Amino acid sequence: IEDKWEGFFLSAIEVRGLCPIKGEITVQGSKNAVLPMMAGAVLNNGITVINNVPRIQDVFCMMGILDSLGCSCVLDGHSLTIDAAGLSRFSIPKAEMEKMRSSIMLLGALLGRCKEAEVYYPGGCMIGKRPIDLHLMALEKMGARIREGQGDEPLRASVPRLRGTVVDFPFPSVGATENAIFAAVAASGKTVLNGCAKEPEIVELCRFMNNMGASVRGVGGDVLVIEGGLPLHDSEFTVGGDRIAGGTYLLAAAGAGGEILLTGTGSQGLKTVTSVLKQMGAAVFEEEELIYLKAAGRLSAASIKTGPYPGFPTDLQSVMMAVMSRARGISTIEEKIFESRFKTANELQKLGAEIVIEEDIAKIQGRPLLKGCEVNAWDLRGGAALVAAGLMAEGTTIIQSCEYIMRGYEDICRDLSGMGACIRYME
Ligand code: UD1
Repeated sequence: IEDKWEGFFLSAIEVRGLCPIKGEITVQGSKNAVLPMMAGAVLNNGITVINNVPRIQDVFCMMGILDSLGCSCVLDGHSLTIDAAGLSRFSIPKAEMEKMRSSIMLLGALLGRCKEAEVYYPGGCMIGKRPIDLHLMALEKMGARIREGQGDEPLRASVPRLRGTVVDFPFPSVGATENAIFAAVAASGKTVLNGCAKEPEIVELCRFMNNMGASVRGVGGDVLVIEGGLPLHDSEFTVGGDRIAGGTYLLAAAGAGGEILLTGTGSQGLKTVTSVLKQMGAAVFEEEELIYLKAAGRLSAASIKTGPYPGFPTDLQSVMMAVMSRARGISTIEEKIFESRFKTANELQKLGAEIVIEEDIAKIQGRPLLKGCEVNAWDLRGGAALVAAGLMAEGTTIIQSCEYIMRGYEDICRDLSGMGACIRYME
Protein backbone atom coordinates (compact mmCIF):
# COMPACT_ATOMS: atom_id res chain seq x y z
CA ILE A 1 0.00 0.00 0.00
CA GLU A 2 1.39 3.33 -0.98
CA ASP A 3 1.29 5.91 1.74
CA LYS A 4 2.95 9.23 1.28
CA TRP A 5 3.23 9.73 5.03
CA GLU A 6 5.00 6.39 5.55
CA GLY A 7 8.09 6.79 7.70
CA PHE A 8 7.19 10.39 8.40
CA PHE A 9 5.83 10.81 11.90
CA LEU A 10 3.38 13.65 12.06
CA SER A 11 1.97 14.55 15.40
CA ALA A 12 0.93 18.17 15.21
CA ILE A 13 -0.10 21.00 12.93
CA GLU A 14 1.01 24.57 13.55
CA VAL A 15 -1.19 27.44 12.38
CA ARG A 16 -0.30 31.11 12.57
CA GLY A 17 -3.58 32.98 12.60
CA LEU A 18 -4.91 36.09 10.92
CA CYS A 19 -3.07 35.61 7.60
CA PRO A 20 -5.30 36.83 4.74
CA ILE A 21 -7.16 33.86 3.22
CA LYS A 22 -7.85 34.11 -0.46
CA GLY A 23 -7.72 31.50 -3.20
CA GLU A 24 -9.16 28.54 -5.01
CA ILE A 25 -9.43 24.92 -3.90
CA THR A 26 -10.42 21.92 -5.96
CA VAL A 27 -11.55 19.56 -3.31
CA GLN A 28 -10.40 15.92 -2.98
CA GLY A 29 -12.67 12.95 -3.74
CA SER A 30 -15.29 12.06 -1.17
CA LYS A 31 -14.25 9.89 1.77
CA ASN A 32 -17.78 8.91 2.75
CA ALA A 33 -18.61 7.95 -0.83
CA VAL A 34 -15.47 5.99 -1.65
CA LEU A 35 -15.31 3.85 1.52
CA PRO A 36 -18.65 2.09 0.96
CA MET A 37 -17.80 1.74 -2.75
CA MET A 38 -14.62 -0.10 -1.78
CA ALA A 39 -16.72 -2.46 0.33
CA GLY A 40 -19.28 -2.84 -2.47
CA ALA A 41 -16.51 -3.81 -4.90
CA VAL A 42 -16.24 -7.24 -3.23
CA LEU A 43 -19.69 -8.11 -4.59
CA ASN A 44 -18.14 -8.34 -8.07
CA ASN A 45 -15.98 -11.40 -8.64
CA GLY A 46 -13.57 -9.30 -10.73
CA ILE A 47 -12.14 -5.84 -11.19
CA THR A 48 -13.49 -2.46 -10.12
CA VAL A 49 -11.68 0.78 -10.85
CA ILE A 50 -12.52 3.89 -8.83
CA ASN A 51 -11.08 7.26 -9.89
CA ASN A 52 -10.63 10.47 -7.88
CA VAL A 53 -9.94 8.46 -4.72
CA PRO A 54 -8.61 10.63 -1.87
CA ARG A 55 -5.23 9.53 -0.51
CA ILE A 56 -6.32 9.47 3.12
CA GLN A 57 -5.66 7.10 6.01
CA ASP A 58 -9.20 5.66 6.00
CA VAL A 59 -8.75 4.64 2.36
CA PHE A 60 -5.34 3.06 3.10
CA CYS A 61 -6.94 1.24 6.01
CA MET A 62 -9.82 -0.12 3.90
CA MET A 63 -7.28 -1.23 1.26
CA GLY A 64 -5.45 -3.14 3.99
CA ILE A 65 -8.67 -4.88 5.06
CA LEU A 66 -9.54 -5.84 1.47
CA ASP A 67 -6.02 -7.16 0.91
CA SER A 68 -6.30 -9.25 4.09
CA LEU A 69 -9.46 -10.84 2.64
CA GLY A 70 -7.58 -11.93 -0.48
CA CYS A 71 -8.47 -9.02 -2.79
CA SER A 72 -5.73 -7.04 -4.47
CA CYS A 73 -5.81 -3.24 -4.24
CA VAL A 74 -3.53 -0.89 -6.16
CA LEU A 75 -3.75 2.86 -5.69
CA ASP A 76 -2.01 4.64 -8.54
CA GLY A 77 -2.21 8.38 -7.94
CA HIS A 78 -5.93 8.79 -7.31
CA SER A 79 -7.05 5.77 -9.25
CA LEU A 80 -7.79 2.64 -7.26
CA THR A 81 -8.04 -0.81 -8.81
CA ILE A 82 -9.65 -3.51 -6.69
CA ASP A 83 -9.43 -7.07 -7.95
CA ALA A 84 -11.87 -9.05 -5.82
CA ALA A 85 -11.53 -12.29 -7.81
CA GLY A 86 -9.12 -13.70 -5.25
CA LEU A 87 -11.38 -13.04 -2.25
CA SER A 88 -10.81 -16.08 -0.07
CA ARG A 89 -11.74 -15.05 3.46
CA PHE A 90 -14.88 -13.62 5.04
CA SER A 91 -13.47 -12.90 8.47
CA ILE A 92 -12.07 -9.50 9.45
CA PRO A 93 -9.63 -9.44 12.37
CA LYS A 94 -10.61 -7.38 15.41
CA ALA A 95 -7.63 -5.03 15.11
CA GLU A 96 -8.61 -4.15 11.53
CA MET A 97 -12.28 -3.58 12.40
CA GLU A 98 -11.38 -1.27 15.24
CA LYS A 99 -9.36 1.03 13.01
CA MET A 100 -12.39 2.48 11.27
CA ARG A 101 -16.17 2.70 11.31
CA SER A 102 -16.58 1.89 7.63
CA SER A 103 -15.25 -1.64 8.16
CA ILE A 104 -18.84 -2.52 9.10
CA MET A 105 -19.84 -1.94 5.44
CA LEU A 106 -18.13 -5.23 4.68
CA LEU A 107 -20.73 -7.12 6.71
CA GLY A 108 -23.45 -6.76 4.05
CA ALA A 109 -20.99 -6.98 1.16
CA LEU A 110 -19.30 -10.18 2.40
CA LEU A 111 -22.63 -11.73 3.23
CA GLY A 112 -23.72 -10.97 -0.32
CA ARG A 113 -20.58 -12.43 -1.90
CA CYS A 114 -19.70 -15.33 0.46
CA LYS A 115 -23.01 -15.95 2.29
CA GLU A 116 -20.96 -15.69 5.46
CA ALA A 117 -19.20 -12.91 7.35
CA GLU A 118 -17.35 -12.56 10.63
CA VAL A 119 -16.77 -9.07 11.94
CA TYR A 120 -16.25 -7.24 15.22
CA TYR A 121 -17.85 -4.02 16.36
CA PRO A 122 -16.35 -1.24 14.28
CA GLY A 123 -14.10 1.53 15.54
CA GLY A 124 -13.82 5.04 14.15
CA CYS A 125 -14.03 8.40 15.86
CA MET A 126 -15.49 8.28 19.36
CA ILE A 127 -18.34 10.66 18.71
CA GLY A 128 -21.14 8.70 20.31
CA LYS A 129 -22.59 5.22 20.82
CA ARG A 130 -22.75 4.35 17.10
CA PRO A 131 -24.69 1.06 17.44
CA ILE A 132 -25.31 -1.28 14.48
CA ASP A 133 -28.79 -2.56 15.36
CA LEU A 134 -30.34 -1.14 12.17
CA HIS A 135 -27.69 -2.81 10.00
CA LEU A 136 -28.45 -6.15 11.66
CA MET A 137 -32.21 -5.66 11.47
CA ALA A 138 -32.06 -5.14 7.68
CA LEU A 139 -29.79 -8.13 7.09
CA GLU A 140 -31.90 -10.40 9.30
CA LYS A 141 -35.00 -9.32 7.42
CA MET A 142 -33.31 -10.58 4.24
CA GLY A 143 -32.77 -13.97 5.86
CA ALA A 144 -29.37 -13.65 7.54
CA ARG A 145 -28.78 -15.51 10.78
CA ILE A 146 -26.74 -13.34 13.10
CA ARG A 147 -24.98 -14.40 16.28
CA GLU A 148 -23.51 -11.55 18.23
CA GLY A 149 -20.27 -12.65 19.88
CA GLN A 150 -19.70 -12.62 23.63
CA GLY A 151 -16.56 -10.93 24.93
CA ASP A 152 -13.81 -11.31 22.36
CA GLU A 153 -15.81 -13.41 19.91
CA PRO A 154 -16.75 -11.97 16.53
CA LEU A 155 -20.26 -11.33 15.28
CA ARG A 156 -21.10 -14.14 12.85
CA ALA A 157 -23.59 -13.77 10.05
CA SER A 158 -24.58 -16.48 7.60
CA VAL A 159 -27.33 -17.14 5.10
CA PRO A 160 -28.03 -19.96 2.63
CA ARG A 161 -29.69 -17.45 0.27
CA LEU A 162 -30.46 -13.76 0.79
CA ARG A 163 -34.08 -13.04 -0.10
CA GLY A 164 -35.59 -9.80 -1.34
CA THR A 165 -38.04 -8.30 1.14
CA VAL A 166 -39.39 -5.04 2.57
CA VAL A 167 -37.23 -3.26 5.16
CA ASP A 168 -38.55 -0.27 7.12
CA PHE A 169 -35.85 1.87 8.71
CA PRO A 170 -37.12 3.75 11.78
CA PHE A 171 -34.20 6.20 11.34
CA PRO A 172 -32.32 6.97 8.10
CA SER A 173 -28.92 5.56 9.10
CA VAL A 174 -26.30 6.09 6.39
CA GLY A 175 -24.33 2.95 7.17
CA ALA A 176 -27.39 0.71 7.61
CA THR A 177 -28.81 1.91 4.28
CA GLU A 178 -25.49 1.09 2.59
CA ASN A 179 -25.27 -2.39 4.11
CA ALA A 180 -28.88 -3.10 3.15
CA ILE A 181 -28.16 -2.00 -0.44
CA PHE A 182 -25.27 -4.49 -0.67
CA ALA A 183 -27.32 -7.38 0.68
CA ALA A 184 -30.31 -6.48 -1.51
CA VAL A 185 -28.14 -6.34 -4.66
CA ALA A 186 -27.00 -9.90 -3.93
CA ALA A 187 -30.43 -11.18 -2.81
CA SER A 188 -32.81 -13.03 -5.06
CA GLY A 189 -35.90 -11.00 -5.92
CA LYS A 190 -37.00 -7.48 -5.16
CA THR A 191 -36.17 -5.51 -2.00
CA VAL A 192 -37.92 -2.32 -0.97
CA LEU A 193 -35.98 -0.19 1.52
CA ASN A 194 -38.25 2.35 3.21
CA GLY A 195 -36.92 5.26 5.25
CA CYS A 196 -33.44 5.21 3.72
CA ALA A 197 -30.78 7.84 4.26
CA LYS A 198 -30.67 10.26 1.30
CA GLU A 199 -27.15 11.67 1.70
CA PRO A 200 -25.42 12.51 -1.62
CA GLU A 201 -22.91 9.75 -0.77
CA ILE A 202 -25.77 7.20 -0.85
CA VAL A 203 -26.83 8.55 -4.24
CA GLU A 204 -23.29 8.03 -5.48
CA LEU A 205 -23.17 4.52 -4.09
CA CYS A 206 -26.41 3.62 -5.89
CA ARG A 207 -25.00 4.94 -9.17
CA PHE A 208 -21.78 3.00 -8.55
CA MET A 209 -23.74 -0.23 -7.98
CA ASN A 210 -25.89 0.37 -11.06
CA ASN A 211 -22.74 0.99 -13.10
CA MET A 212 -21.62 -2.48 -11.97
CA GLY A 213 -24.81 -4.08 -13.26
CA ALA A 214 -27.15 -3.78 -10.26
CA SER A 215 -30.65 -2.32 -10.49
CA VAL A 216 -31.28 0.25 -7.75
CA ARG A 217 -34.23 2.54 -8.43
CA GLY A 218 -35.58 5.53 -6.53
CA VAL A 219 -32.04 6.94 -6.23
CA GLY A 220 -32.04 10.15 -4.18
CA GLY A 221 -35.33 9.38 -2.45
CA ASP A 222 -36.06 7.66 0.85
CA VAL A 223 -37.51 4.56 -0.82
CA LEU A 224 -35.08 2.42 -2.78
CA VAL A 225 -36.29 -0.49 -4.88
CA ILE A 226 -33.61 -3.04 -5.68
CA GLU A 227 -33.93 -5.89 -8.14
CA GLY A 228 -31.47 -8.37 -6.66
CA GLY A 229 -29.43 -11.21 -8.08
CA LEU A 230 -28.49 -9.56 -11.41
CA PRO A 231 -25.05 -10.50 -12.77
CA LEU A 232 -22.41 -7.91 -11.83
CA HIS A 233 -19.48 -7.05 -14.07
CA ASP A 234 -16.15 -5.19 -14.07
CA SER A 235 -16.65 -1.44 -13.97
CA GLU A 236 -14.99 1.96 -13.68
CA PHE A 237 -16.45 4.86 -11.72
CA THR A 238 -15.30 8.34 -10.77
CA VAL A 239 -16.17 9.42 -7.25
CA GLY A 240 -17.36 13.00 -6.74
CA GLY A 241 -15.76 15.69 -4.60
CA ASP A 242 -15.91 15.61 -0.81
CA ARG A 243 -18.64 17.99 0.34
CA ILE A 244 -17.49 17.75 3.95
CA ALA A 245 -13.86 18.64 3.16
CA GLY A 246 -15.18 21.38 0.84
CA GLY A 247 -17.55 22.63 3.55
CA THR A 248 -14.65 22.71 6.02
CA TYR A 249 -12.71 25.05 3.72
CA LEU A 250 -15.74 27.25 3.06
CA LEU A 251 -16.39 27.60 6.78
CA ALA A 252 -12.71 28.22 7.52
CA ALA A 253 -12.58 31.00 4.92
CA ALA A 254 -15.86 32.49 6.21
CA GLY A 255 -14.65 32.49 9.81
CA ALA A 256 -11.30 34.01 8.92
CA GLY A 257 -12.90 36.75 6.84
CA GLY A 258 -11.49 35.49 3.54
CA GLU A 259 -12.42 34.73 -0.02
CA ILE A 260 -12.63 31.25 -1.57
CA LEU A 261 -13.60 29.65 -4.85
CA LEU A 262 -14.43 26.02 -4.21
CA THR A 263 -14.64 23.58 -7.09
CA GLY A 264 -14.74 19.80 -7.36
CA THR A 265 -17.86 19.29 -5.23
CA GLY A 266 -21.32 20.29 -6.36
CA SER A 267 -23.09 23.10 -4.51
CA GLN A 268 -26.26 21.01 -3.94
CA GLY A 269 -24.79 18.89 -1.13
CA LEU A 270 -23.79 22.02 0.81
CA LYS A 271 -27.02 24.02 0.37
CA THR A 272 -27.92 23.95 4.07
CA VAL A 273 -24.43 25.12 4.99
CA THR A 274 -24.26 27.94 2.44
CA SER A 275 -27.73 29.16 3.42
CA VAL A 276 -26.59 29.48 7.06
CA LEU A 277 -23.41 31.26 5.95
CA LYS A 278 -25.52 33.74 3.94
CA GLN A 279 -27.69 34.37 7.03
CA MET A 280 -24.51 35.04 8.97
CA GLY A 281 -23.52 37.74 6.49
CA ALA A 282 -21.15 36.03 4.04
CA ALA A 283 -21.56 36.72 0.33
CA VAL A 284 -22.09 33.39 -1.44
CA PHE A 285 -22.46 32.75 -5.14
CA GLU A 286 -23.28 29.21 -6.24
CA GLU A 287 -23.41 27.37 -9.50
CA GLU A 288 -23.98 23.66 -9.87
CA GLU A 289 -20.25 22.88 -9.87
CA LEU A 290 -18.74 25.72 -7.83
CA ILE A 291 -19.21 27.85 -4.74
CA TYR A 292 -17.66 31.27 -4.27
CA LEU A 293 -17.67 32.85 -0.81
CA LYS A 294 -16.42 36.16 0.49
CA ALA A 295 -16.60 37.33 4.08
CA ALA A 296 -15.24 40.48 5.61
CA GLY A 297 -14.84 41.07 9.35
CA ARG A 298 -16.99 39.21 11.87
CA LEU A 299 -20.06 37.24 10.80
CA SER A 300 -23.34 37.41 12.73
CA ALA A 301 -24.58 34.69 15.08
CA ALA A 302 -26.89 31.92 13.86
CA SER A 303 -28.75 28.85 15.12
CA ILE A 304 -28.40 25.42 13.59
CA LYS A 305 -29.67 21.92 14.26
CA THR A 306 -27.89 18.91 12.75
CA GLY A 307 -30.00 16.29 11.01
CA PRO A 308 -30.07 13.63 8.33
CA TYR A 309 -29.65 15.01 4.80
CA PRO A 310 -30.80 17.59 3.73
CA GLY A 311 -30.38 18.81 7.33
CA PHE A 312 -27.20 20.50 8.55
CA PRO A 313 -24.44 17.84 8.37
CA THR A 314 -23.22 16.68 11.76
CA ASP A 315 -19.76 16.33 10.18
CA LEU A 316 -19.55 20.13 9.84
CA GLN A 317 -20.99 20.93 13.25
CA SER A 318 -17.63 21.32 15.02
CA VAL A 319 -16.24 23.50 12.24
CA MET A 320 -19.36 25.67 12.43
CA MET A 321 -18.84 25.91 16.19
CA ALA A 322 -15.37 27.32 15.55
CA VAL A 323 -16.85 29.91 13.18
CA MET A 324 -19.57 30.84 15.68
CA SER A 325 -16.92 31.33 18.39
CA ARG A 326 -15.91 34.54 16.61
CA ALA A 327 -19.31 35.65 15.30
CA ARG A 328 -21.19 38.67 16.67
CA GLY A 329 -23.84 37.61 19.22
CA ILE A 330 -25.05 34.32 20.68
CA SER A 331 -25.29 31.27 18.41
CA THR A 332 -26.83 27.91 19.22
CA ILE A 333 -26.14 24.41 17.95
CA GLU A 334 -28.42 21.44 18.52
CA GLU A 335 -26.59 18.15 17.86
CA LYS A 336 -29.21 15.57 16.93
CA ILE A 337 -27.07 12.79 15.41
CA PHE A 338 -24.04 11.96 17.56
CA GLU A 339 -24.27 12.60 21.30
CA SER A 340 -20.53 13.03 21.96
CA ARG A 341 -19.79 15.48 19.22
CA PHE A 342 -19.26 18.47 21.50
CA LYS A 343 -15.80 17.36 22.70
CA THR A 344 -14.13 20.02 20.58
CA ALA A 345 -15.87 22.75 22.62
CA ASN A 346 -13.35 22.27 25.45
CA GLU A 347 -10.48 22.83 23.05
CA LEU A 348 -12.13 25.89 21.49
CA GLN A 349 -12.53 27.27 25.02
CA LYS A 350 -8.75 27.07 25.44
CA LEU A 351 -8.54 29.46 22.48
CA GLY A 352 -10.89 31.84 24.28
CA ALA A 353 -14.27 30.72 22.93
CA GLU A 354 -17.25 31.07 25.28
CA ILE A 355 -19.36 27.94 24.99
CA VAL A 356 -21.92 26.52 27.38
CA ILE A 357 -23.24 23.01 26.78
CA GLU A 358 -26.46 21.58 28.13
CA GLU A 359 -27.19 18.08 26.88
CA ASP A 360 -27.45 18.29 23.08
CA ILE A 361 -27.44 22.09 22.89
CA ALA A 362 -24.38 24.34 22.75
CA LYS A 363 -24.68 28.11 23.27
CA ILE A 364 -21.80 30.07 21.85
CA GLN A 365 -21.16 33.70 22.78
CA GLY A 366 -18.97 34.99 19.98
CA ARG A 367 -15.73 36.74 20.95
CA PRO A 368 -14.02 39.47 18.89
CA LEU A 369 -10.75 37.56 18.89
CA LEU A 370 -9.53 34.07 19.73
CA LYS A 371 -5.98 33.59 21.03
CA GLY A 372 -3.72 30.82 19.74
CA CYS A 373 -2.48 28.09 22.11
CA GLU A 374 -1.91 24.32 22.17
CA VAL A 375 -5.02 22.20 21.65
CA ASN A 376 -5.81 18.55 21.01
CA ALA A 377 -7.84 16.93 18.25
CA TRP A 378 -10.28 14.31 19.58
CA ASP A 379 -11.81 13.25 16.30
CA LEU A 380 -11.48 13.89 12.58
CA ARG A 381 -13.90 16.78 12.11
CA GLY A 382 -13.16 18.24 15.53
CA GLY A 383 -9.50 18.33 14.51
CA ALA A 384 -10.39 20.20 11.32
CA ALA A 385 -12.46 22.63 13.40
CA LEU A 386 -9.38 23.43 15.49
CA VAL A 387 -7.39 24.13 12.32
CA ALA A 388 -10.15 26.52 11.21
CA ALA A 389 -10.15 28.15 14.65
CA GLY A 390 -6.36 28.54 14.43
CA LEU A 391 -6.77 30.56 11.23
CA MET A 392 -9.08 32.96 13.09
CA ALA A 393 -6.94 33.22 16.23
CA GLU A 394 -4.24 35.73 17.03
CA GLY A 395 -0.79 34.13 17.34
CA THR A 396 0.15 30.48 16.96
CA THR A 397 -2.13 27.48 17.49
CA ILE A 398 -0.68 23.99 17.71
CA ILE A 399 -3.09 21.14 17.08
CA GLN A 400 -1.87 17.90 18.64
CA SER A 401 -3.07 14.41 17.59
CA CYS A 402 -3.38 15.57 14.01
CA GLU A 403 -3.39 11.95 12.82
CA TYR A 404 -7.17 12.13 13.24
CA ILE A 405 -7.24 14.81 10.56
CA MET A 406 -5.21 12.61 8.16
CA ARG A 407 -8.02 10.05 8.27
CA GLY A 408 -10.20 12.30 6.16
CA TYR A 409 -8.18 15.18 4.67
CA GLU A 410 -5.63 14.31 2.03
CA ASP A 411 -3.45 17.30 2.84
CA ILE A 412 -5.16 20.04 4.85
CA CYS A 413 -1.94 22.08 5.08
CA ARG A 414 -1.42 21.98 1.31
CA ASP A 415 -5.03 23.03 0.66
CA LEU A 416 -5.07 25.90 3.15
CA SER A 417 -1.57 27.19 2.49
CA GLY A 418 -2.58 27.40 -1.18
CA MET A 419 -5.08 30.01 0.00
CA GLY A 420 -2.53 32.03 1.96
CA ALA A 421 -2.81 30.33 5.36
CA CYS A 422 0.37 30.05 7.45
CA ILE A 423 0.11 26.39 8.34
CA ARG A 424 2.51 23.45 8.49
CA TYR A 425 2.95 19.93 9.80
CA MET A 426 5.35 19.52 12.71
CA GLU A 427 7.47 16.39 13.07
C1 UD1 B 1 -21.97 8.18 8.36
C2 UD1 B 1 -20.72 8.96 8.00
C3 UD1 B 1 -20.40 9.98 9.08
C4 UD1 B 1 -21.59 10.87 9.31
C5 UD1 B 1 -22.86 10.05 9.56
C6 UD1 B 1 -24.12 10.90 9.65
C7 UD1 B 1 -19.41 7.43 6.67
C8 UD1 B 1 -18.18 6.61 6.56
N1 UD1 B 1 -19.61 8.05 7.85
O1 UD1 B 1 -21.70 7.49 9.57
O2 UD1 B 1 -19.28 10.74 8.65
O3 UD1 B 1 -21.37 11.70 10.43
O4 UD1 B 1 -23.05 9.09 8.50
O5 UD1 B 1 -24.27 11.65 8.51
O6 UD1 B 1 -20.16 7.57 5.72
N2 UD1 B 1 -27.62 4.48 14.52
C9 UD1 B 1 -28.33 3.57 15.26
N3 UD1 B 1 -28.32 2.27 14.87
C10 UD1 B 1 -27.65 1.84 13.76
C11 UD1 B 1 -26.94 2.80 13.00
C12 UD1 B 1 -26.94 4.11 13.40
O7 UD1 B 1 -28.95 3.92 16.26
O8 UD1 B 1 -27.70 0.64 13.45
C13 UD1 B 1 -27.59 5.91 14.95
C14 UD1 B 1 -26.18 6.35 15.32
O9 UD1 B 1 -25.87 6.05 16.65
C15 UD1 B 1 -26.25 7.83 15.10
C16 UD1 B 1 -27.21 7.96 13.91
O10 UD1 B 1 -27.93 6.73 13.85
O11 UD1 B 1 -26.82 8.47 16.21
C17 UD1 B 1 -26.53 8.24 12.59
O12 UD1 B 1 -25.68 7.19 12.26
P1 UD1 B 1 -25.40 6.74 10.76
O13 UD1 B 1 -26.25 7.53 9.84
O14 UD1 B 1 -25.51 5.25 10.71
O15 UD1 B 1 -23.89 7.19 10.56
P2 UD1 B 1 -22.66 6.34 10.07
O16 UD1 B 1 -23.05 5.49 8.91
O17 UD1 B 1 -21.98 5.71 11.23
